[in-house]
Amino acid sequence: MTPEMLYALRDQAGVPAHPLIFLVLGVLTFALHMVAVQVMLGASALTLRGAISTDASWRRLAAAMLTTAKIAVSVAIVLGVAPLLFVQVIYDPFWYTSNVLSAWWVMGFIGLLIVGYIAMYAFYWKNPDLAQMGGRSTGWMVLSVLALLGVGFIVHSLTYQALFPQQWMTWYAPGGTVDPSGRSLHLWHLPRFGFFIALSAPVAGAWLLAYRRYLQGAQEPDTGYLAFLLQLGQRMMRVGAAVAGALGVLWMATLPPEMAWFAASPWMGVGALAVLALLLLPTLLRTQLDDGWRGYTAFGVATLALIALASAREALRYFTLTGAYGYGALDYRVQMDWYSTVLFFITFAALGGTALGYLLTVVWQAGQHRGPQPYTPPAAVTRLGTWTIGLLVAWTLAYFGVGLWVWLR
Ligand code: HEM
Repeated sequence: MTPEMLYALRDQAGVPAHPLIFLVLGVLTFALHMVAVQVMLGASALTLRGAISTDASWRRLAAAMLTTAKIAVSVAIVLGVAPLLFVQVIYDPFWYTSNVLSAWWVMGFIGLLIVGYIAMYAFYWKNPDLAQMGGRSTGWMVLSVLALLGVGFIVHSLTYQALFPQQWMTWYAPGGTVDPSGRSLHLWHLPRFGFFIALSAPVAGAWLLAYRRYLQGAQEPDTGYLAFLLQLGQRMMRVGAAVAGALGVLWMATLPPEMAWFAASPWMGVGALAVLALLLLPTLLRTQLDDGWRGYTAFGVATLALIALASAREALRYFTLTGAYGYGALDYRVQMDWYSTVLFFITFAALGGTALGYLLTVVWQAGQHRGPQPYTPPAAVTRLGTWTIGLLVAWTLAYFGVGLWVWLR
């Protein structure tokens, strides 16, 4: 596959803003996607572990983690769409070819995701009293975890296949006979996939420490449960980061020749530091975990570690494609479209910021509220809610208004 052929596969219309914007947003949103995926998988595993336990703390944790997992699936999906859009824009020759070569799996991905999510709800419906009774029909939860892992494996394979253009023709026409069925996944790399999945343990461990701090803020009376969470969260961070680190070493040791440069690059150092931070964090933060906002630091640092890892992963893709295939994602033709670029950032900052700020504040405060009276939001928070609705209406009018104006003009 020559660079000219790869460039010919690009969208000739160009991109509506500098490709660096898409690259950076792709990395950031991918990191957030991974955090959500890892909380989802970690919380699901804890749900299963707690569901089969007779210990009261484990059962209470199972009920809390089931709620977390249900929400984390939807957050992971929403935050999966964002990097999907960015990767499609600047890596379209690679992403679409890989998708078309495995088209059945791309569509199966959605079916499997639906199965995974419904199975999780089936377990939830079967267990309204999980904290008291332990788990019934745990098979549903096992099915859910397997299906969600299957979804992740498909995305991993699609991402990985995209990095090997020299093999595309062999997959498309094995032995010279065209196979347009799209029925096969052609390539994957288990240590790479395992690395991202194993990170679920330290990230979910950091989540547990934040959950514990949140309960402390809400005057949690059960000190035994708080001690249980502390111990479990710290252990998950230490052991999980060590396992992920080992898989990371295996990944580096088995890099294919096109990517071998990465193992000796500074980017690899960035990744190693990120995993080390997850490993050492529980020890470094030991005395500060009960202390105001600092109690949430572990989860904040875990998110930063994922941003660092996502940057290193992007460097691996970007420089492999430039070095081995002569394709530069950043030399995309720019067809500057100020309106859509400005609208995107305003939507993100003004509408997204206000709406999420309002919802998260209400949920947070309601969860921390104790007392005989139900929680009522303070006037400032209610004002934020009113602003959210106003902005949403203004945004909808602007969005459709400009569309109509362009159409009728
Ligand atoms: C719910 C189960 C999911 C799991 C366990 C999962 C897991 C993963 C993993 C492990 C990767 C890294 C792959 C690699 O670099 O080798 C990844 C990347 C990605 N995932 Fe997910 N994912 C899930 C759902 C989704 C969904 C629903 C979407 C989209 C709507 C999505 C979009 C993406 C994208 C766009 C990437 C990055 C692709 C790239 O950079 O080329 N994921 N996911």
